Amino acid sequence: MAIREILTDEDPALHKKCHPITQFDGKLSDLIDDMRATLADAGGAGLAAPQIGILRRVVVLMDENDEMLELVNPELIGQEGEQDGLEGCLSVPGLWGYVKRPKKAKVKAQDRKGNWFEAEGEGIVARCFCHELEHLDGHVFTEHVDRIYTSEEVERIMEEEERKGGKGIKE
Ligand code: NI
Repeated sequence: MAIREILTDEDPALHKKCHPITQFDGKLSDLIDDMRATLADAGGAGLAAPQIGILRRVVVLMDENDEMLELVNPELIGQEGEQDGLEGCLSVPGLWGYVKRPKKAKVKAQDRKGNWFEAEGEGIVARCFCHELEHLDGHVFTEHVDRIYTSEEVERIMEEEERKGGKGIKE
């Protein structure tokens, strides 16, 4: 198990369509283990294989119980409602933007052995499903934003929201 380098947005790997996984073998398990270690080390909400330079349809993300979910060949099969909130990406460090996403999202995916299953997410998890699945088609959240915010600006917005007694910007 190894922590891999997370590529930034400038890397061509972040802008390519990834290939499906067809072999559910030890190599796939090693990749998923490395992705888990890399995500845990970075403390992010999700990581897609192209972010470590592997053009395969594999995602790991944190679910609502704060447990890591592994999605191989994931597909969005349902969505409901809408939410607007700040989003960031491990490949776009220190920058944020408001992105509209469905409030609820449902995916089907395979596990590391090839078994299909379904998973549902709400709020941040739904946002994460959409964000990570987009990475597999070469897209990054910055394509959806009108304006980019720095971490300092985000902090200021959060403080302002708190002062107003709002529920915050991230759900
Ligand atoms: Ni990302």
